[in-house]
Amino acid sequence: MNSKQHLLEKIADLKKTRRAVILAHNYQLPEIQDMADFNGDSLELSRKAKDTDAEVIVFCGVHFMAETAALLSPEKTVLLPDQNAGCPMADMAEARDVLELRRQHPDALVVCYVNSTAAVKALSDVCCTSANAVDVVSRIPKDRDIIFVPDKYLGQHVERMAGRKLILWPGYCPTHVRLQPEHIESARVSYPGVTVMVHPECRPEVAMLADEVLSTGGMCRFARETSTETIAVGTEVGLLHRLKKENPSKRFIPLLDQAVCPNMKLTTLASVVWALENRQNTIAVDSPIREPARAAIERMLDSGPITTSEVPLD
Ligand code: 13P
Ligand code: SF4
Repeated sequence: MNSKQHLLEKIADLKKTRRAVILAHNYQLPEIQDMADFNGDSLELSRKAKDTDAEVIVFCGVHFMAETAALLSPEKTVLLPDQNAGCPMADMAEARDVLELRRQHPDALVVCYVNSTAAVKALSDVCCTSANAVDVVSRIPKDRDIIFVPDKYLGQHVERMAGRKLILWPGYCPTHVRLQPEHIESARVSYPGVTVMVHPECRPEVAMLADEVLSTGGMCRFARETSTETIAVGTEVGLLHRLKKENPSKRFIPLLDQAVCPNMKLTTLASVVWALENRQNTIAVDSPIREPARAAIERMLDSGPITTSEVPLD
């Protein structure tokens, strides 16, 4: 038996004894995606984390994703196989600075992208993901000011789609910022008739040249449903594994091979075994942040209008 097979068998055994479910983000390494019980985007994974009846959730993704799972399922054990798997964009917004901005705009509601720390979520009225950011903002009355943290590019995409002005935080994703208009231009020259889809974390000049701007889950759906045969993909390259696997007759081209999120590549089969075996790298959110952070995520998952702020300014 080779060592990969050995690790996969260990994971299968440990999953049974620990009553664990394994969730993997769409950017994870191929062997992690193939081994997981469920692959998805941030919204799909947070819904799964909330609904599962497993006792342990192994989150193959980055820290804020495991933290979201822990907030939604405080009674479950949430494990992040590699403790160093963070999200630099989430780290671009510190809670004390967000609080300061709220004080400058006391009547504004705060929408935070799920790529944020629990402390920032706790200061926010509602959370959003790239799949529902436009919907979430559209649930807020037109006369309310909105602070949007931390991704300025997702915020600008929402401004264009929802037709309203937001107070933007200057954060961005270091991986998606590398995608440039010339990458789309050269894909259109090399592959005439290609459909270009990009993630809303891309710069506006990139998003505006694309045919579709979608979350990673939205890209998977679009690729399944479209009759287009050749699709250029403007996001982290890990998604191509799933796209190719689910659509073997279609052709997928990365817009940029170097669009790699190093944090998403830290999880390995060995680190999953280690975390499950030793119940190590548990992610939990302590009070007093836990309840307000959970409320911002639950508000995202509800569908009603968002009119009032229950977040104190002190
Ligand atoms: P999705 O929710 O679209 O999967 O995006 C998560 C992310 O971190 C993108 O960089
Ligand atoms: Fe964060 Fe960008 Fe990596 Fe997504 S791709 S986890 S936003 S650094």
